[in-house]
Amino acid sequence: MMEWSDRHCRILHRLLCDHARLYTEMVTAQAVIRGDRMRLIGFDAREHPVALQLGGAEPAPLAEAAKIGEEFGYDEINLNVGCPSDRVQSGRFGACLMREPELVAECVGAMRAVVSIPVTVKCRLGVDEQEPGEALRKLIASCAAAGTDTFIVHARKAWLEGLSAKENRSVPPLDYELVYAVKRENPALTIVLNGGIATLDQAEAHLRQVDGVMLGRAAYQSPAILADVDARFFGDSPHTVEAAVEAYLDYVASQLTQGVPLNAMTRHMLGLFNARPGARLFRRHLSENATRPGAGIKVLRAALAHLSRREEVAA
Ligand SMILES: Cc1cc2nc3c(=O)[nH]c(=O)nc-3n(C[C@H](O)[C@H](O)[C@H](O)COP(=O)(O)O)c2cc1C
Repeated sequence: MMEWSDRHCRILHRLLCDHARLYTEMVTAQAVIRGDRMRLIGFDAREHPVALQLGGAEPAPLAEAAKIGEEFGYDEINLNVGCPSDRVQSGRFGACLMREPELVAECVGAMRAVVSIPVTVKCRLGVDEQEPGEALRKLIASCAAAGTDTFIVHARKAWLEGLSAKENRSVPPLDYELVYAVKRENPALTIVLNGGIATLDQAEAHLRQVDGVMLGRAAYQSPAILADVDARFFGDSPHTVEAAVEAYLDYVASQLTQGVPLNAMTRHMLGLFNARPGARLFRRHLSENATRPGAGIKVLRAALAHLSRREEVAA
C-alpha cells in the first residue's frame, strides 16, 4: 500500500506474524529499471515471504522489472490492475487495465517468461460502466491462459470517473458473492479475496469460499490483529504484541544508527495499541515527539511507558 507498506512497516508486521505474505507498495516498472533500486525495492531478509507489486502496462519493461525483483530475492511478482489514482490512469495502468485483458495477459506472459517465481495479478471487479461479472471473468480467463494461476480480487469496481482514490476504496459496493462464484467456476485457480475484511472472524468465514484473504487497512490500522494469524490459520504459535515491540525496538535502534528518522518507523505503530489503556497517550507522545530533529529511541520508550503506566493505574 502506497506510503504505508514500506520496509519498516513490513518488518513490524512480520514480527507480529511469521506466515502471512507481505506485499510492497506498488512500484512502477520504469522506477525499478531507472530509479534508486535499493531505496525503492530493497528489503530485509526477515520479510520473507514477500511479494513485489509492480505497476505498468508495457510487457518489456514489466519483464525487466520482474527479473530485477527476482534477483533481489522477492518470492512473488504481483501486477497491479486495481489502482484508480489519476496519476496511474494517466500512465494507462492500474485499474484502467480492467478494460484491456489481452494486454494484461501479454504483460503477465512476458514476466512469466523471464522469472521462475510466481507472477500474480491484483485486480478489481471492473471499472466504470463495465459489467463486473463479465469484466472480472474476462480478465481472469485471459491471464490464466497466459499461465497465471493466482488472483487477488479487491471485490468492488473502481469508478474512474468522479471518485477519488480514497473514495474508490469504500464507495463502490463490495460483491463477495461474485468472487466466490468465480472461485467455484475455477477450482484450479487460487483466488484471494480482498476488500473490507476487518476481523479474523470475517477472514475465516471468507476462507470457506476462497483460497486466501488479503487484509489492507485493518492490518495497517490495527496491526495487533496480525498477532493471532499464525495460531489461527497456520497451526503455529501465537505472537504477542509485547514480544514484537521488543524486537522492533532493536530494529529501530539499529536503523537509527544508519540515519533512518525515528518517525519513518514509529508511524507504523500508531494503531498498535488501539483500545488498550494508554493508547491515546502513546500515540500523542509519538506524534508530538518522533518527528523532532534527532529524535531517538528514548522517544519510543517514553511513548511505550504511557501504556504500562496506565495499566498500573488500572490494576
Ligand atoms: C493508503 C493506501 C494505499 C494503497 N496502495 C495500494 C497499492 O500500492 N497497491 C494495491 O494493490 N493496492 C493499494 N491499496 C488498496 C489496498 O491494497 C486494498 O485493495 C484496499 O484498501 C481494500 O482492502 P482493505 O479493505 O482490506 O483495505 C492501498 C490502500 C490504501 C488505504
